[in-house]
Amino acid sequence: MFAGSHKTSQDLLYPKVEEANIDFEEVDEALRTNIFNVMLGRRSQRKFDETKPVEDSKMEMIFAAADTAPTAGGFQGFEIFNVKRDEIKIKLVEAANKQPYVNAPVVLVFCMNPERVRMNFPQDILKKFSLQDATLAAAYAQLAAHALGLSSIWIGMIDEIKVMNALETKYTPSSILCIGYPRKILQPKSKRSLIGLIHEI
Ligand SMILES: Cc1cc2nc3c(=O)[nH]c(=O)nc-3n(C[C@H](O)[C@H](O)[C@H](O)COP(=O)(O)O)c2cc1C
Repeated sequence: MFAGSHKTSQDLLYPKVEEANIDFEEVDEALRTNIFNVMLGRRSQRKFDETKPVEDSKMEMIFAAADTAPTAGGFQGFEIFNVKRDEIKIKLVEAANKQPYVNAPVVLVFCMNPERVRMNFPQDILKKFSLQDATLAAAYAQLAAHALGLSSIWIGMIDEIKVMNALETKYTPSSILCIGYPRKILQPKSKRSLIGLIHEI
């Protein structure tokens, strides 16, 4: 990823030496992985290419990205379940108001773990912290997935108890992130104008 970061006198901006062999692949990757391009190009996807599994190396990068998210006190009050078994995926479809695309090539369930947040605050605050920790981790994972040429859908419409039963866990889920290769690349949706969004006071 960082190939070419080795500076030589040839790389100096001025005096400029015309580069005959431009590595377009490297330029493409730099453009695709620039954080602003990743954010601007992401679009929710509910149709995945079932014939194209997600490589383990990409999953590792997605998990590493989630692991970098800021968390309350740095305590990382969240857990990630990487659901591999089909029978659990089917239960998660049911737990997500029967949304069929939850049965995706990759299904990650982000859960809250307030017990990890060892801060001297009331329980409801620790719960709130762990909800934010899990949400941020999922958002980082979603952006990382897009940067890696994958698509995703965030599932918030879940029955917490049904998800917990499906996972056989005591941890409360915050969201499910379904990931896979897209069947068709979709253009990003238009968003609110910044004028209406930002309230300068
Ligand atoms: C908190 C939250 C909950 C969501 N829940 C669902 C869901 O249950 N099912 C679904 O299909 N999409 C869900 N989405 C995805 C949104 O519908 C999608 O992000 C939105 O339409 C904007 O489209 P975009 O992501 O392409 O910009 C959810 C997104 C968020 C952030």
